[in-house]
Amino acid sequence: MERTLSIIKPDAVARNQIGGIIALLEGAGLRVAAARLLRVSKGEAERFYAVHRERPFFESLTTFLSEGPILVMVLEGPGAIARNREVMGATDPAKAAAGTIRKAYGTNVERNAVHGSDGADTVKQEIAFFFSEREIPPRG
Ligand code: CMP
Repeated sequence: MERTLSIIKPDAVARNQIGGIIALLEGAGLRVAAARLLRVSKGEAERFYAVHRERPFFESLTTFLSEGPILVMVLEGPGAIARNREVMGATDPAKAAAGTIRKAYGTNVERNAVHGSDGADTVKQEIAFFFSEREIPPRG
């Protein structure tokens, strides 16, 4: 059993797409183990996306993430990190495969509906950014 962090971004929350996105995640075999609707400040968005600090889109990306409510979730399942990345689809919705979340709900490479941890090294850090261990109930 593996865990990953998923974020439904402000564009998708504002467009009432939470239900459709979670249906695709659950349909891919992922279980919502913890979830919270919240807003991040610009500073928090900058800390969350610190690895992208030098990218030309950093300013715009962090403004976007802080523009409205987001749904942060811990997803659980076998190979959850890769499974989540598969069902999210390519970063750019125009390049995302049919049936993926970004194909269905993304607008452009920035406003792409969802974020998912990209590897085992970042997942712990990303989950800890939003959740404490006691907010993630064990199964059963
Ligand atoms: P995400 O998976 O959250 O990881 C970093 C985010 O940066 C990405 O999704 C996009 O929202 C955004 N991003 C990546 N590449 C670009 C780009 N070329 N222009 C604008 N935003 C981008």
